[in-house]
Amino acid sequence: MPSSDSTTGSALKILDVGCGVNKYSGSIGIDINRATAADVICDLDHFPYPFADRTFDRLRVIHVIEHLTDVIRAMEEFHRLTRPGGRVRLETPHYTDFSSFCDPTHKHHLNSFSFRYFGANDAGFGYYTTAKFREISVRLRLLSVWRWLGFEFLVNAFPRFRRFWEHYLCYVVRGKSMEFEFEPLGPAVSPGRPPAVSATR
Ligand SMILES: C[S@@+](CC[C@H](N)C(=O)[O-])C[C@H]1O[C@@H](n2cnc3c(N)ncnc32)[C@H](O)[C@@H]1O
Repeated sequence: MPSSDSTTGSALKILDVGCGVNKYSGSIGIDINRATAADVICDLDHFPYPFADRTFDRLRVIHVIEHLTDVIRAMEEFHRLTRPGGRVRLETPHYTDFSSFCDPTHKHHLNSFSFRYFGANDAGFGYYTTAKFREISVRLRLLSVWRWLGFEFLVNAFPRFRRFWEHYLCYVVRGKSMEFEFEPLGPAVSPGRPPAVSATR
């Protein structure tokens, strides 16, 4: 059954990005592969995506971003397509998991800080993009043995411990996957980036 807005009761418009064969119920699916359940066939490495600004209440980007060539440009499109107050749910492997490297179609191997340029704590690199998101939540899943030993709880409960884990522990206490929830901030922009080379003199 399609999800609905709790305040208006109207059906939410959901885009399942890189939907694969198990498209989210009630959503519009896009994928490059015709053998999937996609409603729209498109290459997510080509921009812009074929929808108007702020078309969707929800975007689901489940185990897809690691397949795309340009993470920042794709995130800019997710920002453009999501209405104010909407949500982008993004799931991707943690780079220390077996699944991150066993799939040769993965172009990126990410950690829980890989989307920081879109947020407030951008490490001084916020100028890479004008598309900004509020990171509503980030949840790490760890390999079962570490979950049973309580590391998953610590990583998720204490942001400073998560940073410590990323820096010092994660090659041993290995991660599995990451679940992010983002809200787009500011106007819908399709910024693109300046050309790689610009002659100033
Ligand atoms: C690991 S599957 C995930 C499928 C689905 N989201 C799920 O969770 O079951 C990755 C999906 O991304 C799609 N994909 C990869 N690169 C793509 C691209 N450049 N444009 C559109 N879809 C792409 C693949 O065809 C595949 O269906």
